[in-house]
Amino acid sequence: MLLALLCHAVSFAKSSDWVTIKNGDLWYDTDGKVVQAHGAGFLKVKDTWYMIGEDRSKSWNPDVNMYSSKDLQHWKFEAKIIENGVTHPDLGKQRFIERPKLLYNKKTKKYVVWCHWEGRNYGASEAGVFYSDNITGPYKFHAGERPLGIKSRDCNVFVDDDGTAYFISTIEENQHLGFFRLADDYLSATECTQLFKRQSREAPAIVKVEGTYYMLSSACTGWDPNQCKLSYSKNMTSDWSPLENIGDRIAYDTQAASILTIQGKKQTSYLYVGDRWMDPDLPNSKTIIFPLVIKDGKCEIVPANQFEINFKTGEIRY
Ligand code: GAL
Repeated sequence: MLLALLCHAVSFAKSSDWVTIKNGDLWYDTDGKVVQAHGAGFLKVKDTWYMIGEDRSKSWNPDVNMYSSKDLQHWKFEAKIIENGVTHPDLGKQRFIERPKLLYNKKTKKYVVWCHWEGRNYGASEAGVFYSDNITGPYKFHAGERPLGIKSRDCNVFVDDDGTAYFISTIEENQHLGFFRLADDYLSATECTQLFKRQSREAPAIVKVEGTYYMLSSACTGWDPNQCKLSYSKNMTSDWSPLENIGDRIAYDTQAASILTIQGKKQTSYLYVGDRWMDPDLPNSKTIIFPLVIKDGKCEIVPANQFEINFKTGEIRY
């Protein structure tokens, strides 16, 4: 009897370690409100994922919302970390934010947000930088300008193993990708390497796996999805492979926002996080999570409408 109970307890504990991720629906936070965090950026602190993104509930001029979760399923609303008219007087008027991304600087112990800081008709082409002593804010405005004087739009960030951080953005009227190396405090760019010249890539997302950098990116077709392409390199700022198709011709109706690394006790898995924009309108755009299988130098998006993930072991099953 005791043995039977024990076995039951063990199997219960095991099955509860598996979390089901379902794609295609709106997400609701723990207060029952629709999660608004588009073009999302993530930072993991201990066992908690912090997600920031565009609040598109009014379509335009998004505030930046922050949510937290331990399983990418139950999201607690933490704060509006950047707010129109509050964080900066121009925000919500002459300027708006897209694709906010979150970093932690170990040296200054500050949380830093980099984002696309834009104006009418996407003419400003600037990057915004904010910082805070606490992850949930309040965040202070640091800069809103063209990094190193270079026109910059869609963006992401990447932090290397040694703490070197990069702001990667679509530069010079959507022509090239700029790999901006950030200063030690992550608050400014110190140099820019222009890559993927005249290939018009945007929505870049980079992950490093066993010494190789893998980058996913899209073409520039506004809210309409297009073919996602993959490139890889052993060097962050050189020798990237020619772009190759990955996934179907509309990236399963998504555009890349982030790539997450799930480090479990048994294995490390990767998740592609993308935006299914205009589904059917901006406020109802969906966040989609697909397994990204990176193995033996190959990379593949698995377009699963539903899958299970075990955050303890790092395993994924379908
Ligand atoms: C997309 C971009 C989005 C947003 C949109 C506006 O190309 O990835 O972040 O800027 O254009 O049309």
